[in-house]
Amino acid sequence: MSDKKIKRIGVLTGGGDCPGLNAVIRAVVKTAINKYDLEVIGYQDGFGGLIKNMALKLDVAAVSGILPRGGTILGTTNRDNPFKYPVMQDGKRVYVDKSDEILTNLREHEIDALVVIGGDGSLSIAREFWDKGFPVVGVPKTIDNDLSATDVTFGFDTALVTATEAIDKLHTTAESHHRVMVLEVMGRYAGWIALHSGIAGGADAILIPEIPYQIDNVCNKVKERLARGKKFSIVVVAEGAKPLGGEMVVQKIIEDSADPIRLGGIGNLTAKQLELCSELETRVTVLGHLQRGGSPTPFDRLLGTRYGAHAVHILMEKKFGEMVCLRGTEIKSVPIVDAVKELRRVPPDGDVVRAAKSVGISFGDE
Ligand code: F6P
Repeated sequence: MSDKKIKRIGVLTGGGDCPGLNAVIRAVVKTAINKYDLEVIGYQDGFGGLIKNMALKLDVAAVSGILPRGGTILGTTNRDNPFKYPVMQDGKRVYVDKSDEILTNLREHEIDALVVIGGDGSLSIAREFWDKGFPVVGVPKTIDNDLSATDVTFGFDTALVTATEAIDKLHTTAESHHRVMVLEVMGRYAGWIALHSGIAGGADAILIPEIPYQIDNVCNKVKERLARGKKFSIVVVAEGAKPLGGEMVVQKIIEDSADPIRLGGIGNLTAKQLELCSELETRVTVLGHLQRGGSPTPFDRLLGTRYGAHAVHILMEKKFGEMVCLRGTEIKSVPIVDAVKELRRVPPDGDVVRAAKSVGISFGDE
């Protein structure tokens, strides 16, 4: 397969949506057509589209005007793992391997290689297709910024802007009503969104999964501010934050998902505890999917464009099984197998946490 001349490629987006996906799709299509004279087929709704043959031809006109748009014109899903695909048999849900069916479909459509734009779940699936000999390249996406092989994922910057704006807005009510305002942000098992937006928004406490907290320490921070005449506090809580010796709060389990656990609820818990101990009125805002939506920032549009273009370049160089990444200021590529091995989490002793502590932000650990 890998000696074959590449004439026609497929592209799909998998996992949760993320600002900048359309910038990548546009760059893949334009690079493929303008530079290499390839044909591009877009598969809809992630790997589900490969199973159901939901395909559409993407020409330059099809990607015109999508650069500033959030979401993905191809649609996506975080279910539909082809290697563990749910079907009903005798009234029972069972999981079957649909990967060979997909390979047949791809051959029938004369697709020579596939660009998979996704997070760790979709990239792991992409790697499995490469293990079966089908040429793939990966593009990392997630607002969580938690992929170890790249310094930044696109979507993170846009999420950060949304979260920081939310903190700025919460300051108004916090100050006017003398309240503690708790903001719960996403990020799964990594605290990047909470950490960066919390610092940028001037939070007084930031709780992240990497640094287990003790609520008394957070409360002391609120009280210490009160004693200084600061009758309000802002606390940013990552959805994966957990108390020392405690567990993360799970909101729901989605069985068909590559990562079935959905976190959420720690904001409410923290707010109740803070209200009790500080005697200040406390309110919670759960930012939720607002931080995944909206128009991508210039940074994410630029990164998405660089990733998309580079994905096609490495595909034409036959660097299959690789994922594009950002290292420092340079776009490079690494084997997908290395990229999905471990999560990139906030180093508790890193300079960002140290800087936050230096300006008086509490992480609830001391
Ligand atoms: O991985 C992106 C992300 O937004 C996480 O921050 C969050 O935990 C999860 O996806 C939410 O998933 P869903 O859209 O399925 O609720």
